[in-house]
Parts: sequence; C-alpha cells; structure tokens
Amino acid sequence: MKKRIFSGVQPSGILTLGNYLGAIKRFVELQEDYDAFYCVVDYHAITVPQSPESLKSQIAHAACFMLGAGLDPAKMTLFVQSDVPAHTQLGWIMECTATFGELSRMTQFKDKSQGKESVSGGLFTYPALMAADILLYDTDVVPVGEDQKQHVELCRDLAERFNSRFGDVFKVPEPLIPEKGARIMSLQDPHKKMSKSDPNPAAYISLADSKDDIVKKIRRAVTDSGREVAYNPEEKPALANLITIYSLCSGKPVEEIVRAYEGKGYADFKQDLAEVVVETLAPIQARHDSLMADGSYVDVLREGARRAHEVSSAVLKRVKEAMGLSVFVDPAGVRI
Ligand code: TYM
Repeated sequence: MKKRIFSGVQPSGILTLGNYLGAIKRFVELQEDYDAFYCVVDYHAITVPQSPESLKSQIAHAACFMLGAGLDPAKMTLFVQSDVPAHTQLGWIMECTATFGELSRMTQFKDKSQGKESVSGGLFTYPALMAADILLYDTDVVPVGEDQKQHVELCRDLAERFNSRFGDVFKVPEPLIPEKGARIMSLQDPHKKMSKSDPNPAAYISLADSKDDIVKKIRRAVTDSGREVAYNPEEKPALANLITIYSLCSGKPVEEIVRAYEGKGYADFKQDLAEVVVETLAPIQARHDSLMADGSYVDVLREGARRAHEVSSAVLKRVKEAMGLSVFVDPAGVRI
C-alpha cells in the first residue's frame, strides 16, 4: 500500500515563489508515489482578519495555482479545509491536548504576534488545528518548508501524548523538508523568509506576477557587496538565495550556474534569472487562468472534500470513541 502524505497551504494571499519551490513543486512530484491529500487551509487563514471577497477569491486562486502547477485530480485529493467538518472538531480536541506552554513556544506565533496590540486566540492555537489536519488522515509523511517544521514536531508530540493516554489511536507522522529550497528568502532582506503577507510586495514574487513585475523585482532584489557571482550562504546570503531560486527553477546544479557566470557581473545573472523564473511560472499561470475561467476546479474541490470527509470522519470517530465522547451522529451531523 502507498504511504499517505498530507500538506496544506494557507489562502491568506496569493501564493509566492517560496510556496511553489518549498512546497507545491514537491507536492507534484510526491503525488506519483504517495497517496496524497492536499488542503487549502482556509480556517488557518482567518487567524488574521480577511475580507469575505478576498478570502473567497484567494481560495479559488490557491486551488487553481496548485492544479496549474501539476497536481492531478486522478492522482491526489485536493480539498478546502472548511468543507470537511472533522478538521475543526479534531482541532478542538488537539487544543485540549496541547499545553499553553507548548503553544507559547511556537516561533511563528511569536513572529506574527510581535508588535501587535491585539491578536486572535486562533493565531495562538493554530498549531493544534494544524496537528488535527495531519492526524485526521493517518498521515505517514508531511512535506513542508523549514518554517513549518516546529509545528509538525508539535503534532508528533500531541499524537504521542494522546496515544499514551487513550491507546494507539493516531499514526505519528514524519516531516519531510527539502534539502534545497526549504527556505526561500525575501528579495529585500535575505534574513527573512519570502512571505505572501510581507507588507512590501518587492520582497516576494507572487505566482500571479506579470513578466514585467518579475523582471523589476529581480532587478531590484538586494545583493551583497562585491561583483562576483559566488555561492556563499554565510557571507553572501542574498546572492545565495537568488542562485538557489535559479537552480530550482532551471534544474541546473548550483556549481554549474556559478561556473556559467564566471567573469560576468550581477546584472547579467539577474537578467537571466528573471527569464528563468518567468519561464517557470508562465505555464502554471496559463493553466491557472484557464481553470479559473472554466470553473472546473470547483468539481475537483467537491470530489476532494467528499474523499477527505470519508477518511477523516472515520478517524474522528475512532478518536471520539477512544476518549468517551459521543458518537451518536457522524461528524457532518447525520444520525448513524
Ligand atoms: P503556508 O501557507 O505559510 O505555506 C505553505 C507551504 O509553503 C512553504 N513555504 C515556504 N517554503 C520555502 N520558502 C518559503 N519562503 C516558504 N514560504 C512558505 C511552507 O513551509 C508550507 O509547506 N501552517 C501551514 C499550513 C498548514 C499545513 C497543515 C501544512 C496548515 N495545516 C498541515 C502541513 C500540514 C502554513 O501556514 O503554510
């Protein structure tokens, strides 16, 4: 039997090149060998305020970019989190399994809440919902970028704690972090990750950016002092990030890229990098546009939610039974 993978992407903005290189590109490769469930995690997106119109359109764009990148409905299951009731139901149980101390140690919460006068309770408890997402599918492996590793580790701790209290209920998943591209950095600050919620749009390449935007953003990307195109993440982190992007988009090894730019300056390198990124995104954008226009993604998400409900409701029932909670109706509220 194929191993199961689960991963999620937040529709809190338009997806970035970081999301693509760190996660979605690999989702496409992994669908060949795994039984894959991929989720547009809209409940996670509302941990910060969202307008109804933009949330709705961001969910559609996220799904169409994921399909446009090559996710194939015949090979994997793609669905929207809020279509499948078991997520919030197990989410609550996981909140009651996690401790306040554990949630307080999550670095993403510290980053996202820093300097804010008021943050939602959901932003704090979010890793418990993420643990529920994963555990509902008896997941073996969770492919994520580096920034999500701590959350997957918390998920493992919660599953183990739950199992030690209530019996062997959950499968304990493993994170799968790529060797390269696990952390694509901001184009404006190589010490910050590239993020769709960055207030400065020059810091990230969105999957929806036009050719002109991409060329401009790469031209303006910060580089380190010196002229030589060399790969040195410690001394030249900004350039190393650009070389990583080049390598992942072109499929060429870093050494080959560095060799090709011997004796040339940053300007030539950046011009070619922009071209490579444009070429990578163009087919994804074309497929995204046609899926948005014909609306066919809606059927994919409907069928995906049906399959996800089937799997997750059985796991939730197992959990509730183990804990002594009521199982008189199924998670969707239907009498059983
Ligand atoms: P999110 O929506 O921030 O990101 C989606 C995926 O993209 C990866 N990623 C990056 N990888 C490399 N470089 C970057 N700059 C970069 N930015 C983002 C993320 O690591 C992630 O793999 N909490 C999750 C969503 C989630 C989830 C889950 C993931 C909810 N439930 C269950 C896995 C399993 C998040 O906010 O990802």
